Amino acid sequence: MSSATNIHPIFHRILQRTDKEQLLNQTARVIWLTGLSGSGKSTIAEGLEKKLYKNDFLTQILDGDNIRTGINKNLGFSELDRLENIRRIAEVSKLFLNCGIITVNSFVSPTNDVRELAKEIIGEKDFVEIFINCPLEICEQRDVKGLYAKARKGEIKDFTGISAPFEAPVAPSLEIKSNELSIEESIESIFSFILPLITKK
Ligand code: ADX
Repeated sequence: MSSATNIHPIFHRILQRTDKEQLLNQTARVIWLTGLSGSGKSTIAEGLEKKLYKNDFLTQILDGDNIRTGINKNLGFSELDRLENIRRIAEVSKLFLNCGIITVNSFVSPTNDVRELAKEIIGEKDFVEIFINCPLEICEQRDVKGLYAKARKGEIKDFTGISAPFEAPVAPSLEIKSNELSIEESIESIFSFILPLITKK
């Protein structure tokens, strides 16, 4: 007797991603913002979500600082923990994707390895990698959260850009030089880039 004898798959009865995209009149994608702490990812994500909402798109923001107080609150910033952080985020993003929802993710996601893992889980077609590029000196000058100062004093270890690496993405879908553009210009630029990707065909 086959081990699958008493298993009754219900995939054919479950509503598909395309059914949900039809309902929402959009194509789901994962808009993945990567960049240093203080580069403007979260602010851009918030503005982008509002812009998408005004244009009738349903979205969900996934943000490092929020996720790390909930589903990932047991993780730190070692290489392994960051990998696990991003793996879980990518799996969560995939659930939203299958529900037809666009996610706007803002995670430092500092290495090619972690971003590659996210892309593998999400699928290349749905993974839209946007590099929020702001020079370290400027992020450090701004130091909105006071973390760079702490990292320089050695009070935070493995801090991205100071005592842990940040590898610039090799071939992002889009690069935003957030120190040369205003927040509004950055949002506009991302919006017009993703519009054809999220519009229902
Ligand atoms: S990631 O590297 O695993 O992708 P994630 O985006 O979730 O990082 O979290 C980054 C946020 O955590 C930063 O914006 C910052 O506020 C905070 N943080 C605290 N410690 C660190 C650290 N050692 N390195 C980077 N960010 C840190």
